[in-house]
This record gives sequence, C-alpha cells and structure tokens, in this order.
Amino acid sequence: MVICKSCCPKKYVFSDCHQKVLSKLRENIHLNGFVLTDEDDYTEKPERVKDSDTVQMSVLELDWESVTEGQLSHIDTDVIIAADVVYDPDVITSFSNTLCKLLLYKKAEKWLDIFVASTVRNSETYKLFQTKLDEAGLKWQTVADHKKNIFVYEANCTVQILQVSLKM
Ligand SMILES: C[S@@+](CC[C@H](N)C(=O)[O-])C[C@H]1O[C@@H](n2cnc3c(N)ncnc32)[C@H](O)[C@@H]1O
Repeated sequence: MVICKSCCPKKYVFSDCHQKVLSKLRENIHLNGFVLTDEDDYTEKPERVKDSDTVQMSVLELDWESVTEGQLSHIDTDVIIAADVVYDPDVITSFSNTLCKLLLYKKAEKWLDIFVASTVRNSETYKLFQTKLDEAGLKWQTVADHKKNIFVYEANCTVQILQVSLKM
C-alpha cells in the first residue's frame, strides 16, 4: 500500500493463497481509499481495484503449491516484491520454483526484478531458501542495507532483502 501511495505504479497485484488473507487485503485496500472494480479479460480472473488517480490494483489468489502455467503467464509485471514469506521450510521449494517459472515465462523483451524481503527468524530456514534458489537455477544477491528508519519495527530482528534473477 505504501508502494502504491508513494511510487504510483501503473498496476499493483497483491497475492496470497488464503481466503482470509485475500479478504483482509480487500478490506485494507478499501480502508486506504481505493475502490474495487470488476474489469478484466483474464480466464483466471483477479478482482481488480482502481485508485482515483492512476494505480490499478488487483487481488489475486495464487498458491505456489498448485500455481499453473496459465496463471503465471497472465502475470505481466516488471517487479515482484515478496514480503516475509521465507518462514516455513515446507513451502520454500514451491515458492522458489514459482519465482523460477515467473522468470522463465516472462516475455522475452521484458525485464523482471524480484525482491524478497525477509525477517530472518531462523538462519537455517533462510539458508535453506538460498540453497533452493541455487537448486532452481536462480542467482541471488543481498541488497545493501539502508540507513533510514522509515517504519517502526523490532530492531533486534535481522531484515534482509534478496534480489533474485535467472543465471545467465
Ligand atoms: C508471514 S505472512 C506475510 C504476509 C505479508 N506478505 C506481509 O508481509 O505481511 C506469510 C504469507 O505467506 C502466505 N503463504 C503461505 N503459503 C503460501 C503458498 N503456498 N502460496 C501463496 N502464499 C502462501 C500466507 O498465507 C501468509 O499470508
């Protein structure tokens, strides 16, 4: 939401696999003054919302465990931001594979940046994520720390951002 308000992207798609999270997302979008609309031509439709200025927002049900090629091929994006999704060893493989497919299915002429922001609660789980990225044939690098304190959060947790791309 902060990205939508401060960077004004043309489109922004929020995704998750759980219905409760999806409905919280819709609620949050409304609370922030955006409006749900229903205009799209996808077979597997996301619910679209459009803000009064220019940002087109969608809420998309996407499960890394069962995502289809058809669903991924409809995701036409320049930047993917994943926040706090590296916490469960059971879903790390499907998440890494989804990132790999997104990079492979993107249109040849398009650039795709992927950023994965994580609170490192368990270093073994985080290391497992990096290993799975390697196994999926993905390159990753840690984004340099910034010095600004923009949000209030517990400073005793390590927060890291990885930039992920295909190995050339
Ligand atoms: C710790 S929460 C982070 C939520 C949000 N990104 C944030 O930063 O507040 C992790 C999220 O990963 C989602 N998740 C877990 N397994 C998933 C899967 N297989 N496919 C898609 N999302 C999944 C959960 O539903 C949950 O909302």
